[in-house]
Amino acid sequence: MYPDFIYVPSSDTILICLINTGSGIPFISALELRPLSKSMYPIDSGAQFSSWRYDLGTLSDREFVRYREDVYDRLWYIYGTLNYNSVRINTSSVIDVHDSNDGYKLPAQVLRTAVQASGAYNNTLSFSKFGNSYTRWYVCFHFAEIAELTQGKKREFIISVNRGDYTSKLITLEYLTPLSICPNRTFESPFHFSIDATMESDLPPILNAFELYTVAPLPYKPTDHADVTAIMDIKRTFRISRDDWQGDPCVPHKYLWNGLTCSSDSTPRIITLNLSSSNLTGKIVTSFSDLTALQYLDLSYNSLDGNVPEFLAQLPNLKTLNLSGNQLKGTVPEALIQKSRNGLLVLGLGENSDLCHPVPCKKKEKKKIKGLIVSLAATSLVVLVLLLIFCALAIYKRKRRVKVFTESNIKLKNSKMAVESNIKPKNQQYSYSEVVRITDNFNTIIGGGGFGKVYLGTLEETQVAVKLLSPSSNQGYKEFRAEAEILVRVHHRNLVSLIGYCDEGKNKALIYEYMANGNLHQYLSVTNMNVLNWNQRIQIAVDTAQGLEYLHNGCKPTIVHRDLKTTNILLNENMEGKIADFGLSRTFAAESDSHVSTRPAGTLGYLDPEFQASGNFNKKSDVYSYGIVLFELITGHPAIIKGPEENTHILDWVYPIIESGDIQNIIDARLHGEFHKNSAWKAVEIAMSCVPPVAIQRPDMSQVLVEIKECLTLEMAHERGQNKTTSNGQLVAASLELESDIAALAR
Ligand SMILES: *[C@@H]1O[C@H](CO)[C@@H](O)[C@H](O)[C@H]1NC(C)=O
Ligand SMILES: *[C@@H]1O[C@H](CO)[C@@H](O)[C@H](O)[C@H]1NC(C)=O
Repeated sequence: MYPDFIYVPSSDTILICLINTGSGIPFISALELRPLSKSMYPIDSGAQFSSWRYDLGTLSDREFVRYREDVYDRLWYIYGTLNYNSVRINTSSVIDVHDSNDGYKLPAQVLRTAVQASGAYNNTLSFSKFGNSYTRWYVCFHFAEIAELTQGKKREFIISVNRGDYTSKLITLEYLTPLSICPNRTFESPFHFSIDATMESDLPPILNAFELYTVAPLPYKPTDHADVTAIMDIKRTFRISRDDWQGDPCVPHKYLWNGLTCSSDSTPRIITLNLSSSNLTGKIVTSFSDLTALQYLDLSYNSLDGNVPEFLAQLPNLKTLNLSGNQLKGTVPEALIQKSRNGLLVLGLGENSDLCHPVPCKKKEKKKIKGLIVSLAATSLVVLVLLLIFCALAIYKRKRRVKVFTESNIKLKNSKMAVESNIKPKNQQYSYSEVVRITDNFNTIIGGGGFGKVYLGTLEETQVAVKLLSPSSNQGYKEFRAEAEILVRVHHRNLVSLIGYCDEGKNKALIYEYMANGNLHQYLSVTNMNVLNWNQRIQIAVDTAQGLEYLHNGCKPTIVHRDLKTTNILLNENMEGKIADFGLSRTFAAESDSHVSTRPAGTLGYLDPEFQASGNFNKKSDVYSYGIVLFELITGHPAIIKGPEENTHILDWVYPIIESGDIQNIIDARLHGEFHKNSAWKAVEIAMSCVPPVAIQRPDMSQVLVEIKECLTLEMAHERGQNKTTSNGQLVAASLELESDIAALAR
C-alpha cells in the first residue's frame, strides 16, 4: 500500500522521524515528495491526511493510475467492483484537463471512464460501507460528461451522503468538461452515498471518480523554524554527530536532542543549550544569535578560538553564558561586561589564556580578522544552499531506500535496495560447528520444511528454529537459495525473520526466529483443543494480509510467494501470524509481469485455477490462496475436506451454503456463535472476493488489507463496546531522519 499524506509545511524544511512504538525497529523503503497546489484540498497548515482515490468504470488489471497520467502523481486505484444496477461507460474523446478551470487536474484517463446507473432502478447510483466506524471523512466527487447528448437532452442529478444533503446544488455536466465537487465538510463513517437523477433528467446519473480522506491533527507542532535553522547550522558547522541529534530538535518531547531544553509553548523554542566538553573547534558562529529564546548557553571546555562575539550580548533572554576553558582571544565586548555587572547575566570566561579579561590588552589587527570572518561566512552560506538543493534533488530522483541488513555472502540477484544501513547487521553467518552447538547436536526436531528438517536451537539464550538442508535433494538447494535470497532482502513483522545462516560446503542451514505456537494449520485442526476465538482469527488474517501486501507492493521488485497456505503461516508466543517458507517465491521486475512456469508450484487446494489452466502466475494467484486461508479461518475446515468416500474442496463446500443465504452455517461451530455478525459477514465477503476463477476479478492485496482491517475494527468495537484505543505502547529508541528542501522540489 502507498499511504499518502498531504501536509502544508510551515517552512522550507520537513523533518520526518520514524519512531519505534514498541513493534520493532522502524524502517522506510521510499519517501517521495510531490508539490501540490494549496487551493486543491480544504486543509489548513500542519494537518495530515491519508486518502483513497478511486477511478470508476475502468476495466484493467492495473492496480492504479498515477504519474504520468496524473500530473500530481496522486494514486487513483482502479475500482474494479461493479455495483449492482450499474454499467461501465467510456469515451475515447479528448478531455482537456490542462486547460480547464478545474484545479484538481484529474488524469484524462480517469475521467474518460465512468459508471452509470442502469437496470430497473436506473435513476440512482449508490455506494455503501466506506471507512471504519470512528473517523470523519471528507468526500470529493469528480465528473465529466462522456456521452454525446442529443440536442435538448440533459443529465441532471443531486448527491446525498448518509441520506442527507451533500451539496444543495443540482449538478449538470458539460460534454468533456471536468467538474469536481469537494466541499469543506466531513461525514461520519461507515457511510454510504448515492447520486440520484432529478425528475427533469433525461439520463441516468454517472460518476467518474471519487476521493475519500480524513484529516487528523498532527500530534506535535514543529519547533520554531528560525531555531531549527540555527541549530542545524550549528550542528553542521561544528560537525556535531550525536545519534540523537536527528529530526526535529524539540519534538517529540521524549526525543529531545541531548543538551537542549525547550519551552512548552505551542511552537516550541530552544531555551537552553549545553555544548560543554563537546570537542567544538573554530569560532563562535553567528547562528547562536538566531536562537533568540535562549536563556542558558554553555560552551565551556571546548577548543573554540577567535573573539567573543558582540552578538551574544544581543540575545534578549540570555541569563547564563559559560565560555570557560576555550582558546578565545581579544577583548570581551563591553556590552557583555555591562550586562554581567548589572546582574542580568552570569558570565563564565575563565581559563581562556589569550583573552584580554579581566586584564585588558592592546588593540591589534582586530579589523583584519573581522573582515576575514565576514567573507568566510558568506562563502559558507552559498555552499550550504547549494548542498541543500543538491540533497533534495538526489532524494527526489533516486527514491531513497534504506535497507535494514547488510548484504551477506549469499548473492542477491535482483536487489535494487541500496545498502545504507546504520542499524546493526541482522543476518549473521555461522559455521557448521556453531550450528551443531546451537541445536545441541540436532537434538529436537520441530518440523519438516520443503527441503529438510527443522530443529529447535538456542542462541544467546533465545530459542531459534534451524532448518537444515538435506544434501540429497537438488530441488531442495534451489528452494534453499530462493528462501535465503528473499529473506535477507525483506524485513517485515509479518514475515518470519532470518537470524542467520550457515553455508559451509554441503552443510547449509537457515536460522529463524522461533515461532512458539507452531503453524496455523495445526491450530485450526480438529485435534487442537485450544480453539482460536474470532478476534484471534481475524487478527491472524490481518497479519497475513500485511505480510503478503508487503511482499507484493512494499518490495521492489515485487515478490510473489506462490505457496501461501495455513502450514506456512506461523504463530509466535503472542499469536501473531508470520508468513514463512519462501522456497517457491519469485521476484517480478515489472508490475504487469507474470510468470510462466513449467514447474509445479503451490499446493493442491490453494492453487489458482487460472494458473492451473495457463501456467500464468502473478500476485493475483497469492490473493486466491489468501482467500482460501481466510475461508479456513472462518470455517475451521482445511482447504481439502476429507470425506469418507471422496474429498471436497473448501469452495465446493462453502459456495452452495453461501448461495442459499445461510452464511451462519459456514462459520466454525467451535466458536459457539461468539463473533460479531457484521464482522463475520464482512470476512466471508472478503474471502469470496479473493477467489473468483478469473485472476483479473480479484482485488489487489492492498484493498484486501484495508477491508480485513475494517473487519477487525468491527469486531473490536463489538468487544470493547465502542472503546477507541490506539496502543501507542512505549516509545523506544531508534529514529530515522530524512530531510528535504521543498522549495527546491517545487521547481
Ligand atoms: C552540560 O554538559 C556537561 C557535559 O556533557 C555536563 O557535565 C554538565 O553537567 C551539563 N550541565 C548542565 C547544567 O546540565
Ligand atoms: C562554567 O562551566 C564550568 C564547567 O562546566 C563550571 O565549573 C562553571 O561553574 C561554569 N560557570 C558558570 C558561570 O556557569
